[in-house]
Amino acid sequence: MQNVISMRDFSRLDLDTIIDNTLKIKRDGIPNKLTDIPVASLFFEASTRTRTSFETATRELGMKVHGFAGKEGTSVMKGEPLLDTVRMFLEYEDQIIIMRHNLNGAARFVADNIDVPVLNGGDGSANHPTQTMLDLVTIQEEFGRIDGLKIALVGDLKYGRTVHSLLQACELYDVEPWLVAPQNIMMPKWRIEDYQREVGKKLLITSDFMKAIETVDVLYMTRIQRERFPKGPEGDVDYAKVSGIFNLHAEMLKKAKPELIILHPLPRYKHNLEISMDVDCSPHAKYIQQAGNGLPTRQAVILKALGEGFEGRKKDYANNEVWQNIRVVNGAKKGEHFVYRINNGTLIDHIEPGRGPEVLKILGLQEDKDTTYILARNLRSKRYICKDVIGVPNIELNEYQLSRLGLVSSMATINIIRDNNVFKKGKVSLPPVLDRLVECQTTNCVSNPETHEFAPSKFYVESRNPLIARCHYCETPTTRKDLKLL
Ligand code: CP
Repeated sequence: MQNVISMRDFSRLDLDTIIDNTLKIKRDGIPNKLTDIPVASLFFEASTRTRTSFETATRELGMKVHGFAGKEGTSVMKGEPLLDTVRMFLEYEDQIIIMRHNLNGAARFVADNIDVPVLNGGDGSANHPTQTMLDLVTIQEEFGRIDGLKIALVGDLKYGRTVHSLLQACELYDVEPWLVAPQNIMMPKWRIEDYQREVGKKLLITSDFMKAIETVDVLYMTRIQRERFPKGPEGDVDYAKVSGIFNLHAEMLKKAKPELIILHPLPRYKHNLEISMDVDCSPHAKYIQQAGNGLPTRQAVILKALGEGFEGRKKDYANNEVWQNIRVVNGAKKGEHFVYRINNGTLIDHIEPGRGPEVLKILGLQEDKDTTYILARNLRSKRYICKDVIGVPNIELNEYQLSRLGLVSSMATINIIRDNNVFKKGKVSLPPVLDRLVECQTTNCVSNPETHEFAPSKFYVESRNPLIARCHYCETPTTRKDLKLL
């Protein structure tokens, strides 16, 4: 793996290697140069630290960097699709793309479509992996370890991508993360569940800021991401509720542990400082040193991405058997349900009662005027008490239709009938990847049609029962109840 897109992709060994290599670079300088390799630095969103540290890193490595800092002044303002912009830089023979974008999953989408490594400098409110790497470097530098520490993530845990990536990295270390935020900007529930499922421990969630200051080893402060709140009055009200809620002043540190370090990805917001200027001279304040670590960390990242690459984190997806055979005991469909008997075609039995019309819709049978079908609703069932049944004469469902059926009905039994006999019988389970089947409900996801970026919808099935499918781009999971078919 050579891309740096999301913390979900990395193993503990990958992160420890980046930390070690960064500290070696700080001590001994750059180990080798990548002379004259051309690099594109494409920052569609504002940045000071990430862009300049990446660009300085490339120059110090001997590379040639060009690109843009902010979409203003580029043809993005004329409505150019993301992939067109990136492809131009491949025509200029750039061998690595460093990018920041306002859409969640933008870097993943680009990486899927090009053959050179993509380094994500932040995508919407989703990920900021190299920020997390430099955060870990700073913690390691200060404590000589990461394991065993209490780390409080404070402030905007809903929209702040740095804390999303940092919490994902915490899954790999024996740390005690605290989530300190008011309810309306708390870490999304699915991210909390991801952590808890992965680690097998409950996260400590609190709004008691003083208790966190007095207890933890690392206080990771964040800016309220005003620009990511909903536009209009609803967003204004939401922001007013949380603006200034966790502002840190020097006097609040009196009972802090002597070894406490205060980190912040920066920038802080000068009109309502979440870390007051009087904290800057405190021995606890490490956020400027942390930002400085961006340069050697990104050098280490570039060298690794263009060198041997990363090991990657193993992900568990459901197995890929879509069709589960059921033994045909009595080859003929006969008996009480003569109402839906067919000689040739497909009989879909045991559909959850009331769900028959939805199944017809997702199979495209309602619109297809040439196909006859039989829908029997709320029939008696020995095993399921009640069921819907659909018979489609002369048609056997294809793989795409079976996948869609599996999304709507987990109980359905499919009988393929040939010459009045059940030729094949089975249940459908979902394929491991739902390709162009489900629409992502995250409004800021690059695959959302409203963004006009043409990222094809893709979900990974992590669990079939209950169904949990995760968007390939923004990483948000969805359940059967919430999924919207394309
Ligand atoms: N921490 C960080 O991403 O800073 P910039 O937005 O200035 O790059």
